[in-house]
Amino acid sequence: MKIVLTGSTGLIGSALLRQLEADNHQVVRLLRRPPQRPDEMEWDPAAGKLPEGCLAGADAIIHLGGESIQGRWTNAKRGAILESRIRSTALLARSMAAMNPRPHSFLCASAAAYGDRGEEILTDHSDLGQDFLGQVCRAWEAAAATVQRAGIRTVNLRLGMVLDGRRGALAAMLPAFRWGLGGRVGSGRQFWSWITLADTAGAIRHALADENLAGPVNIVSPNPIRQADFARALGRALGRPTILPVSARAVRLAFGEVADALLLASIRAVPPRLLESGFVFKNPDIDEALESILAKAAAA
Ligand SMILES: NC(=O)c1ccc[n+]([C@@H]2O[C@H](COP(=O)([O-])OP(=O)(O)OC[C@H]3O[C@@H](n4cnc5c(N)ncnc54)[C@H](OP(=O)(O)O)[C@@H]3O)[C@@H](O)[C@H]2O)c1
Repeated sequence: MKIVLTGSTGLIGSALLRQLEADNHQVVRLLRRPPQRPDEMEWDPAAGKLPEGCLAGADAIIHLGGESIQGRWTNAKRGAILESRIRSTALLARSMAAMNPRPHSFLCASAAAYGDRGEEILTDHSDLGQDFLGQVCRAWEAAAATVQRAGIRTVNLRLGMVLDGRRGALAAMLPAFRWGLGGRVGSGRQFWSWITLADTAGAIRHALADENLAGPVNIVSPNPIRQADFARALGRALGRPTILPVSARAVRLAFGEVADALLLASIRAVPPRLLESGFVFKNPDIDEALESILAKAAAA
């Protein structure tokens, strides 16, 4: 298959790129810098610029690019998080609609941004949250829906917290846990919807191959976990104590609004559509997942 990939320098994109290349797909990478290899092309999504013919002959487009949500959510940062996703998706959508023949599939990142929902079990059919991330993902999925209306199978990848030892949320937590400073955050009863990086890349490849999948798909492990249990599991995997609680107030002071959205919100998402369509998780269980991630990070 010929696949055009955005965000290929990011956490998920770089892992996915390796797997797609191992599957012998031809991958064209759209990057926001001048190309350095024959498989790279430069685009400028903020300015609405896509190089002539870069999508030509593509069977599928996978769009993972967007301003990082890490860092303080100032007004400017919020604007960049939203605009970078909407503009880039609209640009790809316009270009795909003008093609003949058109790609058969468009896989577009989104998030399991369901907001703080307590004990509620959240499926692919659940409504996104009313908070900032929920609004971003709603607008993002609406931008992607124009591709579906053009007759191209479109999948919204509602990604959970992607766990990896080198980048992303887990990598950011590891130093504190290694120092024995990790523990419960807030009440610790909030659910985290996690998935390993290996399963994330595997689930995206599965969504690429299964032509019956379209619309929102939760890309999360089948076992969301309460934050306090996650902290204990990570402590066990590292052989470190996890007795120091961190108050909700302290994380809000340290991280601002991001703390509510990512650390304190209870999101109990499950992946019925992935499971019904036959996807088999490599790491459905948190203890085994953390062990495998830490072993990989140590070997790297
Ligand atoms: N990681 C997670 O836990 C998680 C959870 C839920 C949702 N997601 C979503 O899934 C997507 C991929 O996640 P990730 O963790 O791989 O993200 P990431 O590591 O932050 O990488 C995103 C990529 O997007 C491109 N990018 C950065 N700023 C941009 C901007 N202003 N405009 C357009 N493109 C920009 C960059 O690629 P180039 O420099 O090559 O263009 C970057 O490598 C993101 O949209 C993210 O919001 C991730």
